[in-house]
Amino acid sequence: MKTDSKYDVIIVGAGIAGLYAALHIPKEKNVLILCKDIPWECNTFYAQGGVAAAVDEGDVASHIEDTLNAGAGLCNEEAVELMVEESLEVIPDLIRRGFEFDRDEAGNLLYTKEAAHSRPRILHAGGDATGRYLHQFLMQANPHPLVYNVRVFDLLRSGDTCYGLRALINEEIKELYADNIIIASGGVGSLYAFHTNSRTISSDLHGICLERGIRLEMMEMMQFHPTVYVDNPWARKQLLTEALRGEGAQIVDEEERRFLFDYDERGELAPRDIVSRAIFDYQKRHGGKVYLKMDMFDEEFFAHRFPNIKKALASVGFDLPKDLVPISPAFHYAIGGIVCDLNGVVPGLENLYVIGEAACTGVHGANRLASNSLLEGLVFGRRAARHLNEKGFVWSHKPPFAEFKGNLVEKDDTILKQRLRRTMWQEVGIVRTRSGLERALDFVDDVQHLTIGRLLALRLKTARKIIESALARRESVGAHYIINE
Ligand code: SIN
Repeated sequence: MKTDSKYDVIIVGAGIAGLYAALHIPKEKNVLILCKDIPWECNTFYAQGGVAAAVDEGDVASHIEDTLNAGAGLCNEEAVELMVEESLEVIPDLIRRGFEFDRDEAGNLLYTKEAAHSRPRILHAGGDATGRYLHQFLMQANPHPLVYNVRVFDLLRSGDTCYGLRALINEEIKELYADNIIIASGGVGSLYAFHTNSRTISSDLHGICLERGIRLEMMEMMQFHPTVYVDNPWARKQLLTEALRGEGAQIVDEEERRFLFDYDERGELAPRDIVSRAIFDYQKRHGGKVYLKMDMFDEEFFAHRFPNIKKALASVGFDLPKDLVPISPAFHYAIGGIVCDLNGVVPGLENLYVIGEAACTGVHGANRLASNSLLEGLVFGRRAARHLNEKGFVWSHKPPFAEFKGNLVEKDDTILKQRLRRTMWQEVGIVRTRSGLERALDFVDDVQHLTIGRLLALRLKTARKIIESALARRESVGAHYIINE
């Protein structure tokens, strides 16, 4: 790998958005993809349920409507229309390239239903391993070099141009320059004590953008997935895909009562913000555990449709679909992010793009509809690549940038990171209060005054933005639920 040198395009992140964008940039271009860790440590790899896509032209209006309804009035309608309309292009494109979605014996695509979709329109692969299959496929198809273990910790911005970035590579600090930079670094999972994300997802690029004067919006909209297996000791929890409920799994209390209907007539298939809050509230009022009940499934069907969940839960002693599995909500997805237009262009910085979970186009409004995230990565990844291909590659001579002085990590950072995660979970979680948010802000302020490394400082910047956004939105809407006390 050449470092301290210049590329046509640098892509930060190798999830679905980054890899699908890469696929649309000509092979002859000098493109470099940076991975923070090993490439499969990304949220795409852990996505289970599938890709939502309009089944045909006749389903476009209904997919748009479901997305807008879930988004609780805060969606950018143009972004939604474009995403759903282009689902009719990106799915056939993947199939043409050789990707195999699950099909029935007659060869027809199999669609499943997930919460708040008015019909089955979720394509899946490997039963419950859609993200892993897609990631493997895109990695194999990727025509550009990809480098592992690269920790990006700054963008080299001067005026209205982003000239490159600064990163730790093989223990050395390097500057990499590019005509175009695409941020595809995912969301903010590691800011929370319990989450479904890859351990690498820690919001560094969000923090850098805040520092470099780039706008983040809707950061109060943090989505919690209702069903994860809770009894493992790690922050990363085992996701139990929404497709389980789409196919008939139920959420029950210790008496096996389906209490969700007390909260919403759609029960298990209400939008995930409603289901997560209902579980949270029910446990607070009644105590006791909440379970996912799957014994209505035929054993053979289950083993075929959800092989990976069966295997993962077997490793901790559950016999599925027979056993009840204790569940809880956990942090899942950052709805808000770095502001960009519908080509992924960051306003005011013509050569900086952001796509996928890191981006905020407004496509998810206040609450993302299930399985729209992989679709978002495909559609907006391709749009960004096409935009920069058309724009061309124009290098303006870079100005000198001041050397980085300081440490990326300090000795107390690990413990402070854990305290930050607990604070975010407790005070900036499923149900927020003004007093809790203010406590969280005080905590962030206190830590910011300590001797901390740059990487922790970046996380704190993002956390502060989430808290401030939550304080600023006084009414509850979608994923943001606040009690003004
Ligand atoms: C799931 O499989 O339940 C997650 C899908 C999503 O986050 O959209």
